[in-house]
Amino acid sequence: KMWKMWFPIIVNAVMSTCAYFVTIRIIPKLKDMFIKANLFGIDMSKTTSDKVPEALGVVSGCTFLVTMFLFIPIPFGTSLFNGDFPHDEFVELIAALLSICCMLLLGFADDVLDLRWRHKLLLPTVASLPLLMVYYVNINSTTILVPKPLRDLLGLSINLGFLYYVYMGMLAVFCTNAINILAGVNGLEVGQSIVIAVSIVIFNLIELSRDLWKHQFSLYFMLPYIATSLALLKYNWYPSKVFVGDTFCYLSGMTFAVVGILGHFSKTTLLFFIPQIFNFLYSIPQLFHFVPCPRHRLPKFNSKTDKLEISTTKFRYNDLSALGRLVISVFRLFRLIQWQTKEDHVITNNLTLINLVLKLTGPLHEAKLTTILIGIQICCTAVAFTIRYPLAHYFYD
Ligand code: UD1
Ligand code: MG
Repeated sequence: KMWKMWFPIIVNAVMSTCAYFVTIRIIPKLKDMFIKANLFGIDMSKTTSDKVPEALGVVSGCTFLVTMFLFIPIPFGTSLFNGDFPHDEFVELIAALLSICCMLLLGFADDVLDLRWRHKLLLPTVASLPLLMVYYVNINSTTILVPKPLRDLLGLSINLGFLYYVYMGMLAVFCTNAINILAGVNGLEVGQSIVIAVSIVIFNLIELSRDLWKHQFSLYFMLPYIATSLALLKYNWYPSKVFVGDTFCYLSGMTFAVVGILGHFSKTTLLFFIPQIFNFLYSIPQLFHFVPCPRHRLPKFNSKTDKLEISTTKFRYNDLSALGRLVISVFRLFRLIQWQTKEDHVITNNLTLINLVLKLTGPLHEAKLTTILIGIQICCTAVAFTIRYPLAHYFYD
């Protein structure tokens, strides 16, 4: 039994290690092709304005997928020939790959074509359809346990039915976009994703003995994902030689949503997104245009000090809608924003977690800022495990 549990995982780990070295080797080789294809960006926090190849997430994504394709036969081993083939598990694996593959394609399309905001919501929804279909056929469990304090009111569990599918679709949209908008300093997109992935791996290892297939399944995806992303991080870390592009953010978010949904631990997955959830909530006034939102909200580079400072947005308080005024006043009351007035204008920081950190610490060097933000992500994982284990016992049996 032990052997059956660990053998595929060990093979997967070995293959992931190979994928790491392959990715390390091919990224520098392919870099110039991206520039030639006009896929590049300018690093806005550097004095030089060299072209930095963009959307290299498609490379790490492809090596990740190829590793998975080669791995497919391994977990099924002897049952391939014995006639006791587990078709339902096989279908889950294939559908998960289909969704991730689809997201990689759509993400790359976004990088090439620069799609609009509403498409960014549509793409992950479309890509999650194969997944939801398999969930319906294989699992179709749409009941959730009610936390103890609410049980008198709602009973032991409620069946959410169709709403549960809406929730899962929205989870995919959230995971993909939440990573994409916590971005703008070298290494942050990949760094946070790796922390989330490692957190999921730790969770799977803790739970492995309880529900073998679901957590094995998640590990199969997470290990090659981490390996290929680490290779990408090597080139994306300060000073970035490549940018990861929206491709990478979509791919990552979808991978987390896939393992969370099919592994039936989507709530725990969301727990590992605490900084992203905070950043999203904090960003809402700008995302929904209660407050003006510039195309880029990343911190402002000061070339004299070589440090990053808060980036700002400027507006007339009275031009805001009632809702906008309310939110901004609440933020101001709780000192969540930097507030300045100039003639009849108000200047506040752009509403991102990155700027909030800069508001607390003062100007920082880029590499240091990324390190702090990744440190925050790690601390939040510790918080997540505290909520998941000791605290959850108060709410669930
Ligand atoms: C999201 C953010 C945007 C942020 C951008 C940075 C929202 C709503 N959108 O937009 O505020 O400015 O990500 O990634 O919050 N870049 C750097 N250094 C980096 C990473 C990116 O200068 O470390 C710049 C480069 O010019 C690169 C561009 O950002 O070409 C990529 O931006 P893109 O991913 O297209 O922006 P969005 O995801 O739309
Ligand atoms: Mg982006």
